[in-house]
Parts: sequence; structure tokens; C-alpha cells
Amino acid sequence: MSISSRLALPLWSLFLSCLHASCVAGDCPSMGRRMVWLDGRQESSPLAISSQWQVLGPFQIGTREGSWGADPLECLGGFRQLRYDPDARFRSSLPSNGTATWSLVEAKHATSSSTSANVSLSIGYDNVDWDFLKTVYGWAAVQYQAWARGDIVVRGNDTQHVVLYTDAIAEYWVDRVHYFGGDFYSFRKAPPVLHLAPGRHQIDLRLWRDVRAFGGINEPTIDVLVGVEKVSGSLELSRPGVLLADVVHGKLASPLASVSVRNSGESDLVIVGVQSSEVRYSFISTLPLSQAALSRCRRRLTGFQHNSTFYNFSETILVAGQTRPLSFNISLPHVNVSSLELNIIYKPNNGDGKLQTLSVSQPLSPKSLFSPHKITYLHPGGMVSYAMLRPPAQNAACSPGRTRLPVVIANHGAGLEADSPLVAHALDPVSDLCAWVLFPTGVTPWSGDDWHNWGFADVEAAVTSIPSWMTNVAWQGPGVDTNRWVMTGHSNGGQGTWYALTHRPDKLVSAAPLSGYASIQKYVPYELWQPADPRRTSVISASLNSYRHEMLMENAKGIPVFQQHGELDDNVPAYNSRLLSQQLIQAGTNSSYHEFPGQSHWWDTVMTTEPLKGFYRQQVASNESIPRRLKEFSLVVGDPGDTGPKGGIRVLNLEDPGQYGRLTVKGHMITTSNVLRLELDPTVMGFDRVTVDGHDVVFDQLNHVQIRRSQDSWQTLEGKDDGSYRNGRQLGSITSILRTHGPFIIRHQGKQTAHVALQVSQNLHQYFYADCNVVSGNASLSSVDDGCTGNVISVSIGNTWPSLRSNFPILVDEGGVSVRDHAGRTRKYEGAQLGAAFLRPLDGERLELVIWGADEEGILQASRLVPTVTGVGQPDFVVLGELSRWKGVEGALALGFFDHDWSVTPSSVVS
Ligand SMILES: *[C@@H]1O[C@H](CO)[C@@H](O)[C@H](O)[C@H]1NC(C)=O
Ligand SMILES: *[C@@H]1O[C@H](CO)[C@@H](O)[C@H](O)[C@H]1NC(C)=O
Ligand SMILES: *[C@@H]1O[C@H](CO)[C@@H](O)[C@H](O)[C@H]1NC(C)=O
Ligand SMILES: *[C@@H]1O[C@H](CO)[C@@H](O)[C@H](O)[C@H]1NC(C)=O
Ligand SMILES: *[C@@H]1O[C@H](CO)[C@@H](O)[C@H](O)[C@H]1NC(C)=O
Ligand SMILES: *[C@@H]1O[C@H](CO)[C@@H](O)[C@H](O)[C@H]1NC(C)=O
Ligand SMILES: *[C@@H]1O[C@H](CO)[C@@H](O)[C@H](O)[C@H]1NC(C)=O
Ligand SMILES: *[C@@H]1O[C@H](CO)[C@@H](O)[C@H](O)[C@H]1NC(C)=O
Repeated sequence: MSISSRLALPLWSLFLSCLHASCVAGDCPSMGRRMVWLDGRQESSPLAISSQWQVLGPFQIGTREGSWGADPLECLGGFRQLRYDPDARFRSSLPSNGTATWSLVEAKHATSSSTSANVSLSIGYDNVDWDFLKTVYGWAAVQYQAWARGDIVVRGNDTQHVVLYTDAIAEYWVDRVHYFGGDFYSFRKAPPVLHLAPGRHQIDLRLWRDVRAFGGINEPTIDVLVGVEKVSGSLELSRPGVLLADVVHGKLASPLASVSVRNSGESDLVIVGVQSSEVRYSFISTLPLSQAALSRCRRRLTGFQHNSTFYNFSETILVAGQTRPLSFNISLPHVNVSSLELNIIYKPNNGDGKLQTLSVSQPLSPKSLFSPHKITYLHPGGMVSYAMLRPPAQNAACSPGRTRLPVVIANHGAGLEADSPLVAHALDPVSDLCAWVLFPTGVTPWSGDDWHNWGFADVEAAVTSIPSWMTNVAWQGPGVDTNRWVMTGHSNGGQGTWYALTHRPDKLVSAAPLSGYASIQKYVPYELWQPADPRRTSVISASLNSYRHEMLMENAKGIPVFQQHGELDDNVPAYNSRLLSQQLIQAGTNSSYHEFPGQSHWWDTVMTTEPLKGFYRQQVASNESIPRRLKEFSLVVGDPGDTGPKGGIRVLNLEDPGQYGRLTVKGHMITTSNVLRLELDPTVMGFDRVTVDGHDVVFDQLNHVQIRRSQDSWQTLEGKDDGSYRNGRQLGSITSILRTHGPFIIRHQGKQTAHVALQVSQNLHQYFYADCNVVSGNASLSSVDDGCTGNVISVSIGNTWPSLRSNFPILVDEGGVSVRDHAGRTRKYEGAQLGAAFLRPLDGERLELVIWGADEEGILQASRLVPTVTGVGQPDFVVLGELSRWKGVEGALALGFFDHDWSVTPSSVVS
């Protein structure tokens, strides 16, 4: 859990009177739900929202299990089939007498105005002995689920266009339409647009408590907010202003900017361009594409007519209800501009639509060149992101002759914006460090996916943008070594520091993880998931292998580590750091562990305690050569797709991605386990021959070389990657779809699949600030897949687009799903409510994620497995049946991994 949410959340409210004994016995108010009217005057108010909610719970749920279904009420046909009944009894594992009941809950706060209404609910249960359950099951016990039902009522004769905010809610139904994703972290970036006809609209909320977001110590209430806000019914800003770099010396520190817009109308819009008299536009030329794709795609992508006062968005489509960031490249013509006014030009997507304008303004923030200021750059996902950069001070304490300085990277905790003073000024007490200091965002306050595939790519993009910042501001000071990092971070950022230590060992001078957690599983245990066959549980667990730092500490060998934790931390227990410190010593790493007596999770100087300041100073001055040449080390790999080399050796493929791979290196002797293919960098290793598992391999001294296991020996691979391997960004589980280069393409069949396609796009924007092109119709893959796009998500019911790879082991069509297992047997699944989510390869190291359903129920289940929050554990493929709705993982019909040539691995479950 974040510091900010700790600080911002109100004191946990008292338990609800409605659960008192008399009410449980049936002496309850009648079931009419009271309303809060906008502006209080019933006659003239167009909208109302319930102040009284019908609540049913509590039921158990595991850490981040909700994406798998695991809703016990689905066994009874789903909450949406149930009517309020104070006498009804539901079996539940948590409350006394094993009985859950309905109750009526008054909103904690209900406010309204003529354009919006908010209702906040605080749900708690005093018929559960939380303290006792915690002593047995730990924090897993205070995560539970419940359902709540209320209404939005539209009066008068007019349809109302609104957005629906669902803070801390991940799943809900409005008028029998299912929404999954919601707004678990209360980002409010991509609320759904609803067009509500006059009358009553039922809203059913699935409430699900999460210790990382709500805390584990206070009363285990579920605190959520539902809000409606009238919208224009056309193009509007989804967040105010322009994402822009700060101004230094009268210039933008970097030229990339973006505006987030939402189409709140009922038909698609075309974004034509953006214009203004105050800025100069340039084309975004550094496209996030591979070299091969770049040469193929440049003509198409640069073919748009643009000039200095008009930026052509090349007819970007915003489907009805969609939110997207619009990115462009600008410069300021005058040094004395104090704010920007931009006009976004758009039109209806019906051929002859008239041009319309949406204005956006943004005050500029002048900053000193040497203070932490906002820089912008392109995330590999094709949208603009930002970081805070503090260049080396003029009085930096550098020893003579240092020309290229390292980068100190400080990762923020969960729930924090990097431009808040708490983050950007955390290292002010060491203002004279002889280094560049960077405070990355990881794109969002939850750093996308906790600094993993999406968030860490953002860190790397921020670091590599420093040289263009130097050019842009005509920097005269020392240079930068973008491959030389000293990393630190607090809380979730401490966990991100562990990630760098275990996944980028050849870039780290040293690391200082502060008050971080070892893994989600060690933070909030995965106890209390629905019971499942251990074979299935192991597939889920293996999908998270790369994020279990407690399994990867050997990768830190040779890297000085400074650990720090507050002794009394009740947010991230010090156990996490103590465990890893013990493991670091066992792994022969030079680590120091500093536990601060009496301190909790955060204290004012947590980033600059005295020993820590000494560590930063010493480490930025280190002249050790990076990458290090180590005599003896191990490399443990959960996912080769996100793990860089150590000592110049990189694992390219595991034999079975469902289990860890390991290298043990002693001089030129390498022993492997579960490793199929390696890349060696002789310039780092310092020799031109190795013995791998007893086989001598000789190679050229100068270039990277790839070797692979072949039967029982190891051989060099000529011509490197011949394209036949599952490679690079394609490796990993379903979450590797986040390693897109360029905006996602979401293609779907048409009307029947439009809702799910939009939902996927909105979720990717909500949780990652990602950009998606939604394309409908039976367009063949070649029309969206010309190599010029990012990863593709295909959304279909019944028939789907064929695989580009022949003989792919999973086939879906109107008849159902078939899966060919590792032994070559094909298992066929048929019937209603089938769903499937699986990866397929595209060229250029790209991926397609197929989201498929036999029918609407099936596709809704499958679509929940598109990445949103971390820790869900989606493997490479999943086939879901009806039972998953309440049994969760145990109800999956097949799930597992693909190996290097996209065959199903033996570690998979095909039942
Ligand atoms: C206790 O559970 C039983 C069986 O579900 C149920 O019949 C009974 O009504 C419950 N008692 C109370 C007070 O809820
Ligand atoms: C509802 O909440 C939003 C966001 O906090 C706020 O902007 C709006 O003014 C609130 N509306 C009312 C009526 O309180
Ligand atoms: C709604 O429409 C009905 C029938 O057309 C009309 O009588 C009534 O005045 C309208 N009400 C409002 C609030 O406009
Ligand atoms: C933005 O425009 C400038 C000026 O034309 C150009 O030098 C720069 O490369 C562009 N930036 C990107 C990221 O394309
Ligand atoms: C944008 O570029 C396209 C392709 O060159 C061109 O057809 C279109 O007219 C341009 N739009 C404007 C408003 O200049
Ligand atoms: C730039 O392009 C826009 C849109 O095509 C056009 O209206 C405008 O006149 C052009 N301006 C210049 C200076 O060429
Ligand atoms: C900004 O600077 C330009 C050129 O120095 C000058 O012509 C203009 O009047 C200034 N504008 C303002 C608002 O000060
Ligand atoms: C461990 O690190 C400390 C501080 O960086 C250093 O003084 C010491 O020499 C290191 N020891 C080893 C064995 O590397």
C-alpha cells in the first residue's frame, strides 16, 4: 500500500448498524432504495443516485484472484439474478454460523450538484472474527468480497450522457451490461460513458478488498465511491490540460506533449489534428519500432502533411466511449510564453462531417535548469510519458576528470506522482551528488505494472532520453553514461529496485532498496484462493516467477546492496527485507542491512538517512567497470523476455518456461538447468571459448554469439536468430503483451464484440495510460499487421482470425476450442460459456493476444485476463469453462505455457 493512500484515506468508518442482530433477524427497513437528487430539487433534477444500497456478503477471495471469477454467487446464477431478501441465508466461509445475509447500507457521504453526484460506501462486517482469522491466514484473511446494489434514476424525458466513476471497484454491472476493470486504484482516467434513458438503472457492484490498496492493519472495511458526471456527448478532455515538460531557460525541457481525450458521444469521431498560434509543431520521428519495421513503415507514418502551425493526427479514430492520449511534438517560438492554448480539430466519422474544435490550455511551469524538472519522452507503447530529471549540480562533488556520470534512479512508492514534491525533492539533501538523478513514473502512480514489463520499460525510456534533453537545452555540463545506474526506491519503488537488481545486473553499479517487498506473494499471501489442484496452482505461480525476488537473489552477486527498513513497518513488514538480506549473504553478495528502530513505513528522511547518503556518495564515485567481469556467479531466470545479461551471459530461451532456468558460471565453465539457448558477450566475459555442460564451444572474440542445446550437446548458432524461435519480447506469460512497441491494435468483429473491445481499450488506458487503436470488421490480419503496429489483441465470438503460424496448437472456432498437448494429443472443448485467452506470434517479435468466447458469457470471462492489476498470474494460454465463474482457477479447462517453438509444454494442464 502507498504512503499517499495511507495519508489520504479518512479514518476507517464505524461498522454498519445494518448488520446488528435485529436487522439480521429480519427487522429491516423495506427494500425501496432512497435516492440522492442532483441539486436537491426533485422536479428539476435529471439524475439521482441511491443513498441506500442492498449489500450481500462477505465471501472469501484470494489476493488478486478476482480476474479468475471465483465469485461464489455465480454458483447461484450470479448476484444479478438475486433479489433483496432479508431472510435469505447464504453459505459463506467467513462469517459466524457460516452464513452471509443481505443488509441495507446507508452511504457514508452523498453529495450532489447540478452536474454530478457522488456516493461513498464503507462496508464492514462485525460478524467475522477478523483478528482471529488474521492470526491463522495473515493479511489474506482481510481481503474478502461482497456485492452491493443501487440505482441511478433519470427523470424527465431526456437521455442523460454521463461518465461513471467507480473508485476502488474492479467489476460491476449496469442494466445487465457487464464491466470488468473498473478503477481499482481510483485513477479516474477512463470511466465508461453511459447514455441513460429516462427511468431506473440498476447498478450492481462487486466489491473486493485488497490489502495492497486498502491496508492490512486498520478495520477491514471496503471503501468505495460511485459517481456520475454529466458529459458533453462529444469530444472532451479526459484530464485537464496538456502533459508537457517544464520550461527551462525559456524552452520546453523536451518537445513531446500529449492531451488525453474522450469521445463521450454515441458515434465514432475522427481526430484531424491540433493547431495553435503559440507553438511550432514537428513530427515525432523516433518511432518505437524495430529497425526492420521502421524502414518499412517510415513512408506510411511520415506521409502526413503537417506544418509548423498544424499537427496532423493522420485521421486517428476515437470510437464512441473511448479515451486515448494524443501525442505530438512542439517547441515554443518565444521565451516569454506563459501558457499554451491548443485547438484539437475533430469531426464525425461519417465522411462529410463538419470540423469542430476542442480547446485546451496549459500554464507553463518555468523551472531552474538544475532543479528537478519534468521531462517527456516516448514510452515504447507509443504514448508520451514523463519523469523528473535533476542534472548534475554546478557544485557537484565530482573527482577531477569525470566526464560521463552515472544515473541515480529513484523509484516512487505506490499511489504517488513523480512530480509531487514528496518524490521529486526526496534527494534534495544530497544536492551535490556527482550524478544525474532521475525520478521515473513508470507511467502511472502504481508504476503501470509495479515496475515490471510496462513500468520498467518506462524507466529505460526515461534514461535513454537524457542525451536528447542535453541537446535540447544546449547542456554544457558533464555527460551521462546511460548504462551505469545506481538505483534506489521506496516501498513499491523498493520492490522495483529489487527487480532491476535481479533483471538488469549488468547495468547496476549498486542498489538501495528501501522498505520494499520481496514479491506480492510475500506481501499478501495467496492463501484463501479457491481450492485448486496443485498442478493448476503451480501454473499460476510459475506465471509470476519473474517477480518473486526471493527466488532471484543470486543474480545480485557482485553488486553492492544497501538495504533499509523501518523496524515497525506495518505496511510492508520488515520481514521482506530481512529475508532478502539473509539470502543476499547466502548468495555471497556484498550487502549491508540497516533497520531503523521505532520507525514505520515512511519517515521524513527515509530516502536520505545518514548511512544512505554515504552510500549514494560512495557509489556514484565508484569507478568499477560495468558490466562486471565475475569469476563465479549464478543467473536465475524466470522469464528470459525481461531478464538482461549477467557477466555478459544472457538466457534467450528456457526449455520449459513453466519453471526457473539456472546458469552456474565458474570461469569459462558453465552448467545449465532448464536452459535452451544462450547469448554470450565475449568482450564482457573476456574469453573466446566456454565449456557448457561439459561441451566445448569456441567462438569469435569480438561479437555476441548465440549457442543452443541440441540433443545432448551445445552448439553455436550461425546467423543468430533465424526467426524460428519464440524470441525476446514474445517470451513470458500473457502480461508480455505489454511489451508492445507502438500503440496496441484491438481488432474485433463488429457490433457483438464492440463492448468488450472498448472495455479492453479503456482498461489498458486506465491501468497503463496506454494507447489503443480499435479496429472492427473482418479485416484480415495483413491489413492491421503490416509490421508497422504494436501488439494486437483480437476479440471474437465464435469464429476468429486464423493464426499466422501454421499448425498452432490452439484452435478456436464456432465448434469450440481444441488444444494439442505436449504429447501430440488433441483435447476438444465444446459447449456454452467457453472462453479462451492465449498468445500467438506475429512477425517482428510482436504478439497477438486472442480473447475468444463461444458466446457472450464466454468472452466476458476471457476478457478479464487481459492485464490490468499485477499478481493475477495469467499463463500463456487459458481455456475457461462455466465452472471458473465460481471455482476460479480450478474451473479452467486448460492452462499453461508455450515453449520456444510455440508447442504446449509438459508443465501445462490440459484436462
Ligand atoms: C445459521 O445457519 C443455518 C444454516 O445455514 C441457518 O438455517 C440459520 O438461519 C443461521 N442462523 C442465523 C442466526 O443466521
Ligand atoms: C464528485 O466527485 C468529483 C471528484 O472528486 C468532484 O469533482 C465533484 O465535484 C463531486 N460532486 C459533488 C456533487 O460533490
Ligand atoms: C415529457 O413528455 C410528455 C409527453 O410528450 C410531456 O407531456 C411532458 O411534459 C414532458 N415532460 C417534461 C419534463 O418535459
Ligand atoms: C521533435 O521535433 C524536433 C524538431 O524537428 C526533432 O529534432 C525531434 O527529433 C523530434 N522529436 C521526436 C521524439 O520525434
Ligand atoms: C493530413 O495528412 C493526410 C495525408 O497526407 C492528408 O490527406 C490530410 O489532408 C491532412 N489533413 C490536413 C487537415 O491537412
Ligand atoms: C498548415 O496546415 C493547415 C491544415 O492543413 C492549414 O490550414 C494551414 O494553412 C497551414 N499553414 C501553413 C503556414 O502552411
Ligand atoms: C514576448 O517577446 C516578444 C519578442 O521578444 C515580444 O515581441 C512580445 O511583445 C513579448 N510578449 C509579451 C506578452 O511580453
Ligand atoms: C563491500 O562494500 C563495501 C562498501 O561498498 C566495501 O568497502 C567493501 O570493500 C566491499 N567488500 C567486498 C568484499 O567487496
